[in-house]
Amino acid sequence: MRISVVVMVTLSYVTALHADVQPQKDFNLQRFAGRWFRVGLAYDSAAFAPYRDKMRISMGMITPHNNGNVNLTMWDLTPAGCVSKLYRYERTNKAGQFTYLSTRHSMMKDITVVETNYTEYALVLKHKKFEREYTQVALYGRSRSLRPEIIQKFRDFARSRGFPPEAVLTPPHGAENCPPIGSGR
Ligand SMILES: *[C@@H]1O[C@H](CO)[C@@H](O)[C@H](O)[C@H]1NC(C)=O
Ligand SMILES: *[C@@H]1O[C@H](CO)[C@@H](O)[C@H](O)[C@H]1NC(C)=O
Repeated sequence: MRISVVVMVTLSYVTALHADVQPQKDFNLQRFAGRWFRVGLAYDSAAFAPYRDKMRISMGMITPHNNGNVNLTMWDLTPAGCVSKLYRYERTNKAGQFTYLSTRHSMMKDITVVETNYTEYALVLKHKKFEREYTQVALYGRSRSLRPEIIQKFRDFARSRGFPPEAVLTPPHGAENCPPIGSGR
């Protein structure tokens, strides 16, 4: 079992952002495909703060294309019901690193799968350089519950990226019927 601890340099926040985060060594997109649950999220946006308590674990589905691009479908329970959103990630020349155009923020972001063992968890960093507000760390699990060591690994990583404790969330379970049974398999 290879769970390498990501070596982090705790310099000032800006310096830390510039530090090159490497993707999972020998990243394998086919093994990364399929169903994941977003078990943790670090997101330090003032606009998001009022919604922290409302957040729930949501389900995602990674569908790889032959060319190495990826579709991610995420389901969230909203007051309007169970809503799915599609994110399209484009490959870069580094396996485990993707870019995508955020329509909400109208900018290119990059996504790095920092660490994953494919069958249990994945630590994913999303960022736009220089713009702290838009940086996120997500912890994905193949199931809705992960071992405490994995949760701690996520917390430590998020803290090392400059997130205050209150912005590092491990929300409660989401609705079992979002997505509806039968879809997103
Ligand atoms: C990933 O972690 C799970 C749980 O510890 C373990 O059962 C599995 O063997 C690990 N997989 C790899 C490829 O290390
Ligand atoms: C990704 O999503 C787009 C838009 O819905 C769709 O046209 C395309 O077929 C999808 N690709 C895969 C591999 O699911």
